[in-house]
Amino acid sequence: MRKINELNPTPEGYYVTEKIYYEPQKGEIELALSAFACGLHLAIDGPTGSGKSTFAKRIAYLLGKGYKEIPKLKSEKTTKLLLDKIEPYRETGFPLYLVSCNEDLAADDLIGREVGMNEDWLNGQALLGAKHGGIIYLDEPAEARKDTLVVIHPLADERATVSVPKLGYVEECKKPHMIIMTYNSMYQDPRKKFKPSTAQRFIHEYLGYPEESLELKIIKEKTGIDTNLAKRIIMIAKETRNLAEQRKANIIAFPDYRVGIEDKRLVDQIDAELERLQIEEGKKVA
Ligand SMILES: Nc1ncnc2c1ncn2[C@@H]1O[C@H](COP(=O)(O)OP(=O)(O)OP(=O)(O)O)[C@@H](O)[C@H]1O
Ligand SMILES: [Mg+2]
Repeated sequence: MRKINELNPTPEGYYVTEKIYYEPQKGEIELALSAFACGLHLAIDGPTGSGKSTFAKRIAYLLGKGYKEIPKLKSEKTTKLLLDKIEPYRETGFPLYLVSCNEDLAADDLIGREVGMNEDWLNGQALLGAKHGGIIYLDEPAEARKDTLVVIHPLADERATVSVPKLGYVEECKKPHMIIMTYNSMYQDPRKKFKPSTAQRFIHEYLGYPEESLELKIIKEKTGIDTNLAKRIIMIAKETRNLAEQRKANIIAFPDYRVGIEDKRLVDQIDAELERLQIEEGKKVA
């Protein structure tokens, strides 16, 4: 291996330190924790705003600062496996390495690259994951070129390695790690499907929008608005989602019709509306 000067020798900055609020729709938390315990990897498909990124952060939070909130899994054996696995990392938790995939993502972004002229080396997220453990989170991986994603194949199977050809060595991952991919198959260009060899390395789960009572709970929790207003907002959201669903047949011809209102925009709009009302209320009092 060539001698280099690592610019990012630790995963500093990748830890999820704030509490992450997430309401599970089905058994996705249990699935992810069990996958982590068993050294398996997870792919989550869901429409925009269905909570995929929040879910990934919640898992990283649970494996770190939120350790005490880890739920008891159905299988006692898996619970024990999980707790034994993460016990040595109680103090630090596990980093979450977010990779927002796009066409320009290169293998070197995931592995690492030389910077400048002084043998300086910047580790990519996959290599950081192999060195220090944690969650490598690939958002919209189908947007990346298929040959780029191949880099993670040995990290996602029994080899648990990342090859670093530019430095002439293979990093063996000795710490617990998991790859989470999240994507929206409804939004995806049908030509941008995963390679079967990529897909088969992951457990796949679909998350739709939360059912009404859960969505009500989430919106109330995140905005503090009353039940009636929250119900009306959900009704509007449902209408637009139905519209998006009905136009599905036109997906390729009219790409913009694919998007229904997602929770994030709802929440942002409610926040803006509440702020406006407060300002008006303040003016009245003054
Ligand atoms: N189950 C949930 N529990 C808590 N919050 C949720 C849940 N689902 C959605 N949200 C909230 O909705 C908003 C959007 O969620 P998020 O960004 O995770 O969605 P996403 O699926 O990653 O969207 P995109 O595909 O556009 O990236 C966030 O504010 C998030 O907190
Ligand atoms: Mg997201």
